[in-house]
Amino acid sequence: MPPIVNDAEGYFRRLVPAADPLLAELEAEAAAEGIPIVGPLVGALLEILAAGAERVLELGAATGYATIHLARGCRGRVTALEHSAPLAERARGNLARAGVAERAEVVCAEALSWLGECRTAFDFVFFDIEKADYAAALNACKSLVPPGGLLVADNTAFPEADSFNRAVHGDPAWKAVSLLSFLPGHSPEKDGLCIARRR
Ligand SMILES: C[S@@+](CC[C@H](N)C(=O)[O-])C[C@H]1O[C@@H](n2cnc3c(N)ncnc32)[C@H](O)[C@@H]1O
Repeated sequence: MPPIVNDAEGYFRRLVPAADPLLAELEAEAAAEGIPIVGPLVGALLEILAAGAERVLELGAATGYATIHLARGCRGRVTALEHSAPLAERARGNLARAGVAERAEVVCAEALSWLGECRTAFDFVFFDIEKADYAAALNACKSLVPPGGLLVADNTAFPEADSFNRAVHGDPAWKAVSLLSFLPGHSPEKDGLCIARRR
C-alpha cells in the first residue's frame, strides 16, 4: 500500500469546514477563556449525524456552540443541559443570535438528576459532561433512547471515560464504535469519540 500524504495533520487541517462569523466568535471566546468546546470538525460531524433526528439531547452545553450545530443539523428540537447558571444564560443568548432559539432550549440542571426524572424519548443524545459521569448517563439513556437512536460521546480517550467505554461495548443494547481521532480545533485535538446505535 502506498504511504499516506505527507504532513497528514496539516493536510486534514486544511479540510476543516469554515465557521460562520458567530461560530468563529464562539471558538475564539472558548480559546481565550479555556472553555473546552467540540470545535468545527466535531461540530460538523454532529450536524451530519443528527440529520433526521426529531428529539436531540445534549449533556453539557457550555456556551451553546455544539447546541447550535445540533439545532442546525436536526429536523426537530434540541434540549441542552448545563449546570452552570451563567453558562446556561450565555448559551441561551448565543442560540438566539444564531436564530435557533425556537428549536433549542437550554435547561439549567445537573444532568444525572435530570436524566433520572426524564420520561421523554430522544433519538439523538450527545454526551459532553464530566467523563466520570458518562457510565451513569449511559445507564439512564438506555430507557430514553429507542431502538435506532444514536448516541455520540466526546472525549472518550480520557481515563475517566473507561467505565463508559467498557459499558457501551459490553452491553448488547448498543452497537458501538470507538475512534481515536485527529480533531482540529477540538479540545484536545487528539481524542476519542464513541458513536453508538441503540439496538
Ligand atoms: C466540555 S463543556 C461542553 C461543551 C459544549 N458541548 C460544546 O462543545 O460547545 C462541558 C460543560 O458541561 C457542564 N457540565 C459538566 N458536568 C455537568 C453535569 N453533571 N450536568 C450538567 N452540566 C454539566 C460544564 O459546566 C461545562 O459547561
